[in-house]
Amino acid sequence: MKNLLSIESLTATEIFSIVDATATMKSSRTQPTSKPLNDQCWGLIFSKSSTRTRVSFEVGIRELGGDAIFLAAADIQLGRGEPIKDTARVMGRMLHGAVIRTFAQKDVEDFAAYSGIPTINALTDEEHPCQILADLFTIRETRGTLDGLRVAFIGDGDCNVARSWIWAAAKCGFHLSIAAPQKFQPPAELLKRAGGDIVVTSDPAKAAAGADVLYTDVWVSMGKEEEAAYRIAQFHGYQINAALLALVPQALVLHCLPAYRGKEIDEATFEGHADTIFRQAENRLHAQKAIMARLVADRSA
Ligand code: CP
Ligand code: NVA
Repeated sequence: MKNLLSIESLTATEIFSIVDATATMKSSRTQPTSKPLNDQCWGLIFSKSSTRTRVSFEVGIRELGGDAIFLAAADIQLGRGEPIKDTARVMGRMLHGAVIRTFAQKDVEDFAAYSGIPTINALTDEEHPCQILADLFTIRETRGTLDGLRVAFIGDGDCNVARSWIWAAAKCGFHLSIAAPQKFQPPAELLKRAGGDIVVTSDPAKAAAGADVLYTDVWVSMGKEEEAAYRIAQFHGYQINAALLALVPQALVLHCLPAYRGKEIDEATFEGHADTIFRQAENRLHAQKAIMARLVADRSA
């Protein structure tokens, strides 16, 4: 692996080996370990807000022996229109790795191509690969195995997180059900390209039936704020709450966060599953350390 640009571009073997390496990173966090990013400086180039991704990468880079610099896109010339390929050619000569949160998937891919340094997609409009790799670890950590897994995604079935779930299910061979209003279902072309055991419905109860995991994400993703009122009206009924959970009382409830109570999840369900949800957030740190260590190792192999 030279970069982590999407789940789509990973193999099942790569996905499972990152999940395994995440377990090792987590169990060895307090022990003296090797510092694969020693003497390295990584840049975080963010065009969208972040709490978890930013903090987990900054801490993770330091724990692996490196330095991190945070570059808000609005503060650098990128924000004034300098092309991504020029930004990449400058940064590639100075930084040892880059973590990018932006809108277009093509920008992350162009950055990787023009910079020549390990590049990680920290969320685009199309995918959120670090989130789903960490989530697979959280599910395995809690459930003991990923065998026979059935995930139900309730909400915006065409958002970055849902799309990364589609690719993870298709690659790893687990079942994914997506419940979303018709206008927010993943495009047929994407589902065809991904293949796998994926069901799309407009009925949350149908998606939840038999699920091991009920998963949701915000109804209004970053960049979609102008559509907020329309989206909130459309998504009415696509909430993880006591009534939905009653259909699958043993299911894990996961949320990538940030959570909007009363929208995609109700307060009681969120707080009832807060231990799992915040362990899910913590696992971003361990997973991303595993990803960075893997990229550095594969580049020097
Ligand atoms: N889940 C996630 O990526 O959170 P942030 O937007 O806070 O980074
Ligand atoms: N789909 C959400 C994920 C936030 C982590 C967004 O893009 O805003």
